[in-house]
Amino acid sequence: MSTSLPRHVGIIMDGNGRWAQVRRQPRIEGHRVGAESVRDITRASRQLGLEALTLYAFSSQNWSRPADEVAALMQLLRDYLIDERAEIMDNQIRLHAIGDIERLPPLVRDPLDALCRDSADHRGMTLTLALSYGGRESLARAARTLAAQVAAGTLRPEAIDVDTLGKTLPTGELPPLDLLIRTSGEQRISNFMLWEAAYAELVFVDVMWPDFRRNELYKCLEAYAARERRFGLTSAQLAETESDVEPTAG
Ligand code: IPE
Ligand code: IPE
Ligand code: MG
Repeated sequence: MSTSLPRHVGIIMDGNGRWAQVRRQPRIEGHRVGAESVRDITRASRQLGLEALTLYAFSSQNWSRPADEVAALMQLLRDYLIDERAEIMDNQIRLHAIGDIERLPPLVRDPLDALCRDSADHRGMTLTLALSYGGRESLARAARTLAAQVAAGTLRPEAIDVDTLGKTLPTGELPPLDLLIRTSGEQRISNFMLWEAAYAELVFVDVMWPDFRRNELYKCLEAYAARERRFGLTSAQLAETESDVEPTAG
């Protein structure tokens, strides 16, 4: 394993339905086994010392799926929050949720709110669940917040810059997104962290989410460590910056 560990990893957990379908099982079985992957990846991330892990669990657009699938997903989310409570509390994990949380049924929102509140002062790793989440929706909400401040006279329009907008997003307090993984072979963002992904390294893997366990994560981290992140600079400039910050040998 390389020493160049990302601070913040985001995962688009995709492929549950297809995983089940090839096994001639109902889609929800894929979601159920996918929850096991969430447990393993969360545990491994904590052990590795990641600062932040953000999991895309349910998109704003996923509300339009068949009602029985949505209902089963809500039940699984509730089960997850109840079953994982002890693990999250015992391991200093801070649970955070982003998205249109008010839209979630009380059976999810109640255990979610309780766990977010009770783990709020944990410093181990921030686990963010993107629930009823859309990157565009999140940007629109931030725009409304800033517009309201301008209307109230507490913010000058000229003061709105990349930093202001970034901090207004629900991810504003998290470290920058370094690595974005999508499972299941699809190569798109599907409305996840549009703003935050500006300089994230993207890794697409063919494995379906229910089969994505810690060894798959380690491979993605190795791929990440082999990338050169230039942020618009040249390789030569990066080499110079590195020699600036690193103490000279001897
Ligand atoms: C990801 O798996 C989970 C959610 C979007 C809730 P999918 O349910 O999208 O699985 P596929 O992509 O249909 O295989
Ligand atoms: C993205 O997966 C949303 C989540 C993983 C929660 P989808 O399966 O909903 O995305 P599309 O429809 O393939 O773009
Ligand atoms: Mg999908």
